[in-house]
Amino acid sequence: MKEGTTEKHPRVLIIDLGSQYTLVIARTLRELGFRSAVLNPHQAERWLKTHELDAIILSGGDASVNDPRAPRPPAALWKKRVPVLGICYGMQYMVKHFGGVVAHVREHAEYGPAKIKITKDTELFKHTAQVQSVWASHGDTPQKLPKGFEAVAAADTYSCAAIQNVSKKLYAVQFHPEVTHTPEGKTILSNFLTNIASCTRDWDAEAFKEDIIRGIAADTAGKRVIIGFSGGVDSTTLTALIRRAVGAKRVFPVCIDAGQFREGEIAHVKAAAKAAGVTLRIMNVEKEMLNALKKVTDAEQKRGAFREVYKRSFARAVQKIGGEKATLCIAQGTLATDLIESGAGGESVKIKTHHNVGLRFSVEQIHPLKDLFKYEVRALAESLQLPAAISAREPFPGPGLLLRVNGAPVTKERLDIVRHADSVVRTVLKQYEALLKEEGVVVSQLVVSLAAGVLHVGVKGDERVYLAPVVVRAVKTIDFMTAEGVQFPALVRKEITQQLCRHKKIGTVLFNETDKPPATTEPE
Ligand code: XMP
Repeated sequence: MKEGTTEKHPRVLIIDLGSQYTLVIARTLRELGFRSAVLNPHQAERWLKTHELDAIILSGGDASVNDPRAPRPPAALWKKRVPVLGICYGMQYMVKHFGGVVAHVREHAEYGPAKIKITKDTELFKHTAQVQSVWASHGDTPQKLPKGFEAVAAADTYSCAAIQNVSKKLYAVQFHPEVTHTPEGKTILSNFLTNIASCTRDWDAEAFKEDIIRGIAADTAGKRVIIGFSGGVDSTTLTALIRRAVGAKRVFPVCIDAGQFREGEIAHVKAAAKAAGVTLRIMNVEKEMLNALKKVTDAEQKRGAFREVYKRSFARAVQKIGGEKATLCIAQGTLATDLIESGAGGESVKIKTHHNVGLRFSVEQIHPLKDLFKYEVRALAESLQLPAAISAREPFPGPGLLLRVNGAPVTKERLDIVRHADSVVRTVLKQYEALLKEEGVVVSQLVVSLAAGVLHVGVKGDERVYLAPVVVRAVKTIDFMTAEGVQFPALVRKEITQQLCRHKKIGTVLFNETDKPPATTEPE
């Protein structure tokens, strides 16, 4: 935040071009005291239209800039005339964009530790050694630099490990300064932000938290605050902040249980409310939800129906809490990316309906987290000392299990099967935790679903039966924009299959190990 302004959004934009390390850049920047917005090219295009910035970073990525399908950052970024730092793929993109040549030269490829030598005095490498170790991972390298660019560091086998165009404020490095294996990386990023882009430090978890709390206290001005509470990291962090801002007596968290929750999750929701220091009201509207979904199979329609039921139920909760409308307000845990994805804010196109974005109530609404990114909310949760079960919680979509009955409408029976299956898989994974750890299997999100639209023939007892297969999918990812499909060890797969098939309505178990892209995380 620039001093003396009310600007709340981050002033550094990181455009994610598909690197596994994009969020590591954001985390390193935060360690240096700077917030950043991490967005994919489409999101960035919208963001650039309405936000002022001080610096832009183009992340790495595993594509080749010479592939026509490779990710492209929006052209609007160059019009901002702010300093740009390209990292790895980001460098190659910059070179190609300005008319240089990038090619795959086998002996220039680097995967792992490498050495570079600074060949020209530059702000970017200020206070770093002339010969330094870096971590690099690339097949392509720039072969010919565009006009106006010069090389400022060389690697063993090629001369442009870092380049610059000082008059245009464009800088790029072929290696990854964000990873700890590049010992001088933090200094390089700090040089870029401080010396080149003149960014002002705007991240200090404690100060940031206090700032949000003050903002909430001012915005709610003595009103009672009603919150849609799911026990996830966003709503729990929001509730804990509001309780700090207005005191427990004025906070009214409401959990709308429309059948979307996993087995035992209501107990977690209650525990989360307790950790946030508030008393929870739970409204069960599963029947109403199933009724609304009677003929629905399409995922977007399902999200729409969920949103409607959520809105109606929430409105009833508000009425029950009662009192003059002017004395009430609703707080939503909407994040910056939710607003972008649901097309709120200008002319953007909708990607996904978010159940809590753009709802109209007769009561005033506030969105205290609307400028924040998920990783910042997790950091806030930690600084509020919420348990790791909340701050590090695996993502779970708002409409939850309702999105995981696919190809046929959600019925009570199908919902119960998928809830049971999810619980069985989780239990087996817990049971084999040590083995999974030993084998280096990391699960960022587990998605167990029922492919209810395709019946598979099977035999149960002496009978021939036709049952919907259960699909088990786990993904490993940092940012959920791309993900790796997890392969479980054979022993674990076998145990999952056997345990699941004990249920009388489960006869086939499939494992979906496809990466994203081409697959998505949710089966919808
Ligand atoms: P996809 O399926 O697009 O999912 O790879 C990426 C992440 O978003 C979550 N997701 C949702 N979250 N409402 C949500 O709040 C939804 O409708 C929704 N659909 C997907 C998904 O679980 C994953 O973490």
